[in-house]
Amino acid sequence: METTVTFHNGNTMPQVGLGVFRVQEGQEAVDAVKHAIISGYRSIDTAMIYKNEQSVGEGIRLGLEAAGIDRSELFVTSKIWLDDFGFDTAIQAYEASLERLGLDYLDLYLIHWPGTDTAKFIDTWKALEQLYNEGKVRNIGVSNFSVEHMEALLAQAAVKPAINQVEFHPYFDQKQLRDYLAGKQIVMESWSPLMNGEILTNEVISNIAEKHGKTPAQVVIRWNIENDVVVIPKSVTPARIEENLNVFDFQLSQEDLYEIEQLNEDRRIGPDPAEFTGA
Ligand SMILES: NC(=O)c1ccc[n+]([C@@H]2O[C@H](COP(=O)([O-])OP(=O)(O)OC[C@H]3O[C@@H](n4cnc5c(N)ncnc54)[C@H](OP(=O)(O)O)[C@@H]3O)[C@@H](O)[C@H]2O)c1
Repeated sequence: METTVTFHNGNTMPQVGLGVFRVQEGQEAVDAVKHAIISGYRSIDTAMIYKNEQSVGEGIRLGLEAAGIDRSELFVTSKIWLDDFGFDTAIQAYEASLERLGLDYLDLYLIHWPGTDTAKFIDTWKALEQLYNEGKVRNIGVSNFSVEHMEALLAQAAVKPAINQVEFHPYFDQKQLRDYLAGKQIVMESWSPLMNGEILTNEVISNIAEKHGKTPAQVVIRWNIENDVVVIPKSVTPARIEENLNVFDFQLSQEDLYEIEQLNEDRRIGPDPAEFTGA
């Protein structure tokens, strides 16, 4: 049974969703999203910069119809890119994402990266707060925010972010940020949870998988769940889409968790949020 996390505002989010970064606009995105919904996924994570919102929207419509479920049962996330930072431009960017997706609200809208100009991300956050206060978006959050970015935001925010989506996998376990967010009742969500596949050949992960009769991907996804992290593995392969959600029939032992913890190398595969400007 799929589990959910609860935000500080009382709203919930499924703990496993489908990520669609690098999924091609067109049939690939339509098919992946539709297959995920039919397979039981209730959360889809896209972004303006992925340039696939239109096909993701089409996949959502077809998936909901085929699964016989209502839009309200699905949790849809998109994100604002750095080029759209600023109060008015952020409102316009949200509306443009809705239009491409063919939806009349999002469940979650995120600031994709903080950038290097604090005043600009604060302005952008104020726009997200307005969208939230007007009921146009159900939840608002951030992505790629370090403890320092969070402190700068919280100093000026009227609405606390529900979530922070960051790079997180066994080689980069974000312990300090995870503890900080837990202390503020802000949920953590992981991106590139499978390290784009790299972590799946790790021997420790493979041995744990074999012991449980599961796959390495399922072990890593389960490790996210047991750390209270929301996880959005990406796949366009139908069997893998199904496999990645089939993680609710086993648990990692304390020993498994300890062994995975030892793999941390503080090694990123993505950009450092302190420097990334999107250019
Ligand atoms: N906020 C941000 O800045 C940010 C940055 C990066 C990503 N994200 C989000 O996080 C999501 C996930 O991250 P990601 O796409 O970078 O990478 P990922 O989920 O770590 O890895 C995806 C790769 O793993 C393969 N894969 C998936 N399931 C598998 C399985 N069960 N067995 C073997 N291989 C498997 C996929 O192949 P196939 O597709 O060929 O099956 C794909 O090549 C993104 O799609 C996006 O929504 C956000």
